[in-house]
Amino acid sequence: MFKKTSTTSGYRDPEVLVGLDLGTSKVTVVVAERDGPTGEAQIIGMGQAPSHGIRKGLIVNLDQSVRSLRQAIVDAENMVGLDLSDATVSFSGGDVKSVRTKGMISLGRAPRTVMQFDIERVIEAAQANVAVPNNQMILHTIPVEYSLDGNSGIDDPLGMTGMRLDIDLESVIVPTATVQNVYNCVEKAGLAVNGFVIKPLASALGVLTPEESMAGAAVVDIGGGTCGVAVFSGDRPKHLAVVSVGGDHITNDVASVLKMPLNKAEEIKKEVDLMPCDEDLDGASPDFEYMGRNYSYSMRELTDIVQCRVEELFSTLVGNEIAMSGVTMLPAGLVITGGGAKSAGIDQYLSGVMNIPVRVSLPLDSNRMPPGRNGPEFTCAAGIIRYALEQERDPFRYLEQSLDQLKNSGIVSGGKAQRSGDQSEERDREPLFGGKNITQYLKDLLKELF
Ligand SMILES: Nc1ncnc2c1ncn2[C@@H]1O[C@H](COP(=O)(O)OP(=O)(O)O)[C@@H](O)[C@H]1O
Ligand SMILES: [Mg+2]
Repeated sequence: MFKKTSTTSGYRDPEVLVGLDLGTSKVTVVVAERDGPTGEAQIIGMGQAPSHGIRKGLIVNLDQSVRSLRQAIVDAENMVGLDLSDATVSFSGGDVKSVRTKGMISLGRAPRTVMQFDIERVIEAAQANVAVPNNQMILHTIPVEYSLDGNSGIDDPLGMTGMRLDIDLESVIVPTATVQNVYNCVEKAGLAVNGFVIKPLASALGVLTPEESMAGAAVVDIGGGTCGVAVFSGDRPKHLAVVSVGGDHITNDVASVLKMPLNKAEEIKKEVDLMPCDEDLDGASPDFEYMGRNYSYSMRELTDIVQCRVEELFSTLVGNEIAMSGVTMLPAGLVITGGGAKSAGIDQYLSGVMNIPVRVSLPLDSNRMPPGRNGPEFTCAAGIIRYALEQERDPFRYLEQSLDQLKNSGIVSGGKAQRSGDQSEERDREPLFGGKNITQYLKDLLKELF
């Protein structure tokens, strides 16, 4: 079933899905194989490498990030024995905004059936109300809810009858330069870009059960330099955001307050229990020697530093984003994932801070992921595969800017670099919506139907 690397150079295997998670701490390449009859995919490999040249989710050094990426790609290729050619890429970055707009169209004077064309029109009407600054672009357009003749809560109006169609649309806006840098980095590392998914969306898809996403839940992926926040309700993302604070800020706090080197601060931070008992705190005053110097610290002080930052992060930054979603009830509570979720006692601690139920989550697919690479820090990567499958099943769920649109508008260029030893020709990619923009795709679909 697997094609050996040596014999498949340049071959794009339609049975294989690849995701790429560009994190601040590490770059992960996830490889999944389709499971034909179920329409699902099984993760067969995870490659990773420490991130260099990426800060707060943004590429700050292209050469370094390309090197990290290549290392992660090779790691994944070695694990699965395949040559990888293309990937769906997940990234974050400080300036990610998600805005909600409304659109309305009339279906005529008498009630009639809603057609695909009407859905396209109402999406366009709502899109026209999105103000996109010059140097930014819409990455995702997500229909959140439709209403027909004032009846809200309609999931998919196609084929239903009415006179007036309304839509609530969520648009994820990112700086154009961020997309360009990510695109160039991935192509230089030798993979073609199939599409993009913003990190908080991938992470949410990686952990939320269908019940949670229907009932209402917020997912926070605590990464190194950023936290991804996603609020879901009614099985739809209501708000997606990236907060430019992550686990590394806790490390920095520890290092600066306790005056110790960053690598040691990172080590001792991981020992902190956010729900400690008094004996743990009062007795212990650990010390260590490093590069000829002695360091000692009190557990109480260390715990205070970590608690302080976690509380501030959630009660202000994350709390604001949840409030902006407009979702007031989160019956399924808060789901915490990402490397930062590995802090002991964080669920109980945050449950007190936020006053809602909190659970720490591994990826939904963790028991089918490679051992040692199935922890919460791999949630986003696993979520990319779920996103790619979801996109195939229902291309209208998270309307994505097609790569051809990006190319036509000059945002990205074609042509991927060849890795050494890779004699492949440029492969035929199948762009989203058959290479057309969304509008053209819908129009052609309509012609075919009638
Ligand atoms: N056991 C742990 N306890 C607390 N924090 C941890 C632990 N393990 C990893 N982290 C933190 O998780 C962050 C990295 O998370 P990860 O999801 O891998 O980041 P990214 O997606 O940005 O690459 C780092 O700040 C790291 O210090
Ligand atoms: Mg992560």
